[in-house]
Amino acid sequence: MKICMIGSGYVGLVSGTCFADLGNTVYCVDKDKKKIDMLNAGEIPIYEPGLKDLVAKNFIAGRLKFINDLKIAVKKSDIIFICVGTPTSKKTNSADLRFVFAAANEISRNINKFKIIVTKSTVPVCTGDKIEQIISKKKSKKYFDVVSNPEFLREGEAIRDFRFPDRIVVGSDSKKSINKMYSLYAPLINKGAKFLATKRRSAEIIKYASNAFLATKISYINEIANLCEKTGVNIEDVSIGIGLDQRIGSRFLRAGPAYGGSCFPKDTKAITVTGDIFKTDLSIIKSVIKSNEKRKILLTERVKKILSNKIKNKKIAFLGVTFKPNTDDMRQSLSLLMIPFLLKKGAKIRYYDPSGVKKEFSKLKNISYHDNIENACNGVDLVIIHTEWEEFKALDFKKLSKRKKFKIYDMRNLYSVELMKHKGFEYHSIGR
Ligand SMILES: NC(=O)c1ccc[n+]([C@@H]2O[C@H](COP(=O)([O-])OP(=O)(O)OC[C@H]3O[C@@H](n4cnc5c(N)ncnc54)[C@H](O)[C@@H]3O)[C@@H](O)[C@H]2O)c1
Repeated sequence: MKICMIGSGYVGLVSGTCFADLGNTVYCVDKDKKKIDMLNAGEIPIYEPGLKDLVAKNFIAGRLKFINDLKIAVKKSDIIFICVGTPTSKKTNSADLRFVFAAANEISRNINKFKIIVTKSTVPVCTGDKIEQIISKKKSKKYFDVVSNPEFLREGEAIRDFRFPDRIVVGSDSKKSINKMYSLYAPLINKGAKFLATKRRSAEIIKYASNAFLATKISYINEIANLCEKTGVNIEDVSIGIGLDQRIGSRFLRAGPAYGGSCFPKDTKAITVTGDIFKTDLSIIKSVIKSNEKRKILLTERVKKILSNKIKNKKIAFLGVTFKPNTDDMRQSLSLLMIPFLLKKGAKIRYYDPSGVKKEFSKLKNISYHDNIENACNGVDLVIIHTEWEEFKALDFKKLSKRKKFKIYDMRNLYSVELMKHKGFEYHSIGR
């Protein structure tokens, strides 16, 4: 099939590349010319394991094209995916749909034959109806269908998630469009992926309800970890004990920092606003948002406590600053709050992240990037394990602390409390 991805970010680029790898011709469009130039030069604007090789393979085969001109891409395609960002609106906390509606407008001006227009962006319920209205102003309904196909891939595991999804959800009232989407995904369905056809609005809600549920699970175990800390219980035992119940399941039950990233914070906020619009109080999700906000403060306060409230001139090393491993995504990462806070209190920050230096810290003073763990930890007072990258899981702390014995705050529970005690480190972790 001929496909167009509008927006070549984490979702559009990964899914577009994977669709090309299944044999389709894919036009990845982005209004960011720099991004398209980079992609055409063989560079990948994001950090996603395995993506560079997959892009190269399909680009060379001529199945994957990167262009700025949406007009050409839309005209040549049968299926058009909208994969633009839907950030939090600063004024209302709802999803800002400016980019989605702008894309819909541009599409409407370039429909030359029947098209299926698919929202992959995470959008509130009834957005599909609005997209349909926008396009109907320019083109008769017989020339297009608007379908919802929410994306569930996780950054860092995105290619695997595309190839082996838990489910593919397609929402549409048109049998013809559902069948076409089924054919597009047939190579994955044939390998066992579950295909769920629903109404368009149901698909829109499924996405938000899934993310809000996962955010709830994280906040829940984080609060239980707080209780464990007060009662001398190990949260790891509790997580395993809860997770073995098949009705609950063990995933997303690992205590740690507040949830962050580009999806959970914005999606939890957006769905509560949608609830309010429809006069439905989504009180559970609202309390999850509050709990998560509190957690950011709690963990930052913990750093203060570990340093006995003496932060001025303390050297602190951050291992990992992204919100999770295997991505360069800094959106809503706890480090964005913690680092400026500690700098303000007079700390000197050093950081290392496998995905490289971060522009988010470029304007701050007293912070330096080091391109390896040894340099970052050299002579510091405290090491904070912020993100659970693989390379932080078996560190030789004795060697790292040769120049100066540092304290450790492991926000990901990567090490055994007993072992660290045995090695003579002042070691702090979560819920243990
Ligand atoms: N990142 C994830 O892990 C993830 C997972 C599932 C769903 N989602 C959802 O997918 C959507 C996209 O997320 P993302 O992380 O890929 O965003 P992103 O910011 O990485 O990428 C969006 C891209 O769209 C481009 N764009 C915006 N308007 C455009 C237009 N009119 N024409 C062409 N290009 C345009 C931007 O330049 C940008 O490159 C969001 O709604 C998000 O909630 C994201």
